[in-house]
Amino acid sequence: MAKITYIQPDGSRQTVEAQPGVTVMEAAKLNSIAGIEAECGGACACATCHVYVDAAWREKVGKPAEMEEDMLDFAFDVREESRLSCQIRVTEELDGLVVTVPEKPF
Ligand code: FES
Repeated sequence: MAKITYIQPDGSRQTVEAQPGVTVMEAAKLNSIAGIEAECGGACACATCHVYVDAAWREKVGKPAEMEEDMLDFAFDVREESRLSCQIRVTEELDGLVVTVPEKPF
């Protein structure tokens, strides 16, 4: 299992145990993490699973693929550390990963 911590815009944190193989979005949904809607169910077609990857983890998580980058254009307040959480697959290597849920524009 890998521990993943989700930080909300107000600074509150929730750490969950994720099974390797699920995505960071699926782990959030399974644990009712607020702010990750994942309207398209993980098809990289909605950008409502947008998160910011903690600086210490950015290299391990890697960069978005082209299709993900295109979809990120539809997300609000995109930054260099932005990723779509449905496109990050949990591995033992990502044990301890920290991501922040963006503030919602409305
Ligand atoms: S769940 Fe829709 S893009 Fe990630």
